[in-house]
Amino acid sequence: MAIQWFPGHMAKARREVTEQLKLVDVVFELVDARIPYSSRNPMIDEVIKDKPRVVLLNKMDMANLNETKKWMSFFETQGFYPVLIDSKNGKNLSQVTKAAEIVTREKFERMKQKGLRPRAIRAMIVGIPNVGKSTLINRLAKKSIAKTGNMPGVTKKQQWIKVGKTLELLDTPGILWPKFEDQTVGKKLSLTGAIKDSIVHLDEVAIYGIEYLQLRDLTTLNKHYNINVGQDTPYIEVFDAIGKSRGLKLKGNEIDYESVVELIIRDIRNEKIGKYTFDHISMLEVSDEE
Ligand code: G4P
Repeated sequence: MAIQWFPGHMAKARREVTEQLKLVDVVFELVDARIPYSSRNPMIDEVIKDKPRVVLLNKMDMANLNETKKWMSFFETQGFYPVLIDSKNGKNLSQVTKAAEIVTREKFERMKQKGLRPRAIRAMIVGIPNVGKSTLINRLAKKSIAKTGNMPGVTKKQQWIKVGKTLELLDTPGILWPKFEDQTVGKKLSLTGAIKDSIVHLDEVAIYGIEYLQLRDLTTLNKHYNINVGQDTPYIEVFDAIGKSRGLKLKGNEIDYESVVELIIRDIRNEKIGKYTFDHISMLEVSDEE
């Protein structure tokens, strides 16, 4: 379901997460490994503040491993504890518990010194829609936990889910909004399926995807669609070539651009062409200098 984020919703979502944070020792900030920058909430640091945090780069199975490694180092230098996971197939999930133990160790040592009884680490998951929060909760719980309509403000009684012996997880994730005011971020969110509706025009999304592939993986692009375009071929000629190659034509032999756009987006979203990471560290370096 699509969420329309209005200022009122955003304030409410933030308030809810702030309340939930009081209950936990550690936050799992879930991001999409294909867009580790674009899939973060723009105010996440202000919301989480200095609460111990583990950054979970989810959907590792869909991302480019070399780029993912760079993002892991980046998050480490930022002082966070990054863990690479695939919630869908349950990969690396034992690392999540281990990371929680590491980032809360000091707090639990202090509690022990004060003579407090040992207890499980309490954790919650926070992230923008569609990064895989429910999938991860269900995986960690080893059962299906009902999704709260994916709407901020839809309340239900919160419960703790036991994850092994050392961890307890809130069954309701914190849902925060994406960085939708930035057009490029919007295109990446759409290209990866985080936003499925038309906040950004779909033709703009497909153009972005095609130009990305022309620049980064031209050979695979040509091979996938059985076309022969160059790095500088204008996007409309690439669309024409794909339309011709796939027989996407209207009456009168004109190219059916709507179908071409849909095909490109579907192929990229479902990693039919390849595994791509659309956020690059260099992008942050550029914006830092500005
Ligand atoms: P949310 O709670 O954060 O909104 O996200 P949710 O768990 O609903 O996941 C959104 C989509 O991402 C789902 O796909 C889910 O299967 C997929 N997903 C979650 N984690 C991973 C992962 O690590 N790898 C891959 N490849 N996919 C992941 P969907 O198409 O919306 O539904 P479905 O195909 O699972 O039915």
